[in-house]
Amino acid sequence: MVTESVAGKTTNTRGAIDLLDISQAFLSHGNPLPVLDRVSLSVQPGSFVSLVGPSGSGKSTLLRLAAGLDRPLTGRIYVDGHQVTGPDPSRGLVFQDPTLLPWLTVAQNIGLGPQVQGHGDDPIWRSRVESMIELVGLEAFSEALPAELSGGMAQRASLARALVTRPEILLLDEPLGKLDALTRSTLQAEIDQLWHRQGFTALMVTHDVEEALLLSDRIVVFSARPARVLEDLTIALPRPRTRDAPEFRQLRRDILGLLS
Ligand SMILES: Nc1ncnc2c1ncn2[C@@H]1O[C@H](COP(=O)(O)OP(=O)(O)OP(=O)(O)O)[C@@H](O)[C@H]1O
Ligand SMILES: [Mg+2]
Repeated sequence: MVTESVAGKTTNTRGAIDLLDISQAFLSHGNPLPVLDRVSLSVQPGSFVSLVGPSGSGKSTLLRLAAGLDRPLTGRIYVDGHQVTGPDPSRGLVFQDPTLLPWLTVAQNIGLGPQVQGHGDDPIWRSRVESMIELVGLEAFSEALPAELSGGMAQRASLARALVTRPEILLLDEPLGKLDALTRSTLQAEIDQLWHRQGFTALMVTHDVEEALLLSDRIVVFSARPARVLEDLTIALPRPRTRDAPEFRQLRRDILGLLS
């Protein structure tokens, strides 16, 4: 994959997401429930875009569509100009609950993607798995089972598993939603670091406006269901970002105002 590196930030030249005029509805007790109302969203390769909005507005629904896990009622989804018709290893997924296989060790879980792709015994892939384990600080737990990990460690392992195959796109659905404030803040910095190093496109759903402001180039605000794009904000704050900068606090107030 082609990458560019500017001022210590790697950016892939692939990984563009185009969601065009997406509507989605479900059946709820026999009645149609409109969830997304003609949502359009384009994400540049290597950028970090966060999606915030009221609970039940359709954020996870949109992320599942971008992952190719579901199909929209109307509209089209493209990745690098190719229509999305199903899941693909070029799009990594991280959910709120770590989805590690309980009978595999941390190292085996992180190496699952390469293993499934037939690279399990390839020394290059083995060393990629090892360096990914190091990158997320789990060296001492590589032989542990998921049940032996703390919530933060399990989520680190999930991130490592999603990133070991170097996907062009990482889709994150409230990845830190269940962690305590301190672990959350550490992992926010780690996600930022991984994004700088690997250059993937990130599309992240979060309820935490500060988290979105710390990490994102853009924040897209959804309305209540059926979701429309209320606001699409470019976040031009210099990095690394600090919560106490006046501009940061103003943006936080503005976004919370849109959400209330
Ligand atoms: N597979 C499904 N079948 C029926 N209804 C669904 C399905 N998936 C989602 N919904 C409904 O669609 C609406 C949007 O759900 P979604 O999970 O996308 O919201 P969300 O914005 O991610 O909410 P939260 O912030 O609480 O995670 C909800 O009313 C939910 O009940
Ligand atoms: Mg959700």
